[in-house]
Formats: sequence, C-alpha cells, structure tokens
Amino acid sequence: MGIISIVAASSLVFAGCGNSSSDESKSEEYSSQGEKIFKNNSCVGCHGKDLEGASGPSLKNVGSKLSEQDIEKIINEGKGSMPSKVVDEKEAKEVAKWLAEQK
Ligand code: HEC
Repeated sequence: MGIISIVAASSLVFAGCGNSSSDESKSEEYSSQGEKIFKNNSCVGCHGKDLEGASGPSLKNVGSKLSEQDIEKIINEGKGSMPSKVVDEKEAKEVAKWLAEQK
C-alpha cells in the first residue's frame, strides 16, 4: 500500500510538470533527468527518496561500488527480489548515469 501511494503521489508531481520542454517556469526540483525518473517510479518506494534504503538496500554510495553499466543491467534485468523493467531501457540509462554519480 505504501508503495502504491508513493507512486500515485509522484505521478501527480510528474503530471504537474507537463510534457512540454518549453515550459521552463516549473522546472527543476531535480538535479537531473535520472533523479526525476527514479523519484517518479517505484524505485523510490524500495530505495528511499534520499537513497537511504527501505525494502531495498541503500543506494547512497552505489556509484563507488557499481559502474554505470552494472547499474543499468540491474535495472533492466532485476536482481534478487528487485523486479526488472520498472522503467524502460531509455530511462534505465538515465537513472544508471545518475546513480553512478552517487559516491
Ligand atoms: C520492489 C522493490 C524494488 C524496486 C521497485 C526497485 N528495487 Fe532496486 N533493489 C531492490 C532489492 C531488494 C535489491 C537487492 C537485490 C539483491 O542484492 O539481491 C535492489 C538492488 C538494487 C541495486 C543494486 C544495489 C547494490 O548495492 O548491489 C540498484 C542499483 C537498484 N536496486 C536500483 C533500482 C532502481 C534504479 C530502481 C527503479 C528503476 C529500482 N532499483 C527499483 C528492490 C527494489
């Protein structure tokens, strides 16, 4: 239930931002596209909004442990009880890039 409500709440935020890239007025509470994707998908429900971890492990220093490619692979293929394909492959790339910077 908790995860579902977080997802619902964050998709509202996402919808609020609109799809128009010309709408600069409402940008950017996120430091990058990767962070935005992470926080607008269920990643945040399992890994926490500050990457502190929840049902999944903390990702605070994941960039010093895993490369961008490793992270992208985990997102696309899943790992242990982490589901695969939470986001599409294009988004996985962006998220992996952002997480690889978390050191
Ligand atoms: C249903 C809960 C869940 C969701 C949703 C989820 N994860 Fe995970 N994630 C996990 C669990 C549990 C692990 C640990 C898997 C293991 O090591 O067996 C994990 C592991 C990881 C790891 C590897 C961490 C390490 O130290 O080895 C990364 C990176 C990661 N997740 C990123 C993401 C991203 C990005 C998303 C969203 C696209 C996401 N996760 C969505 C539960 C989740």
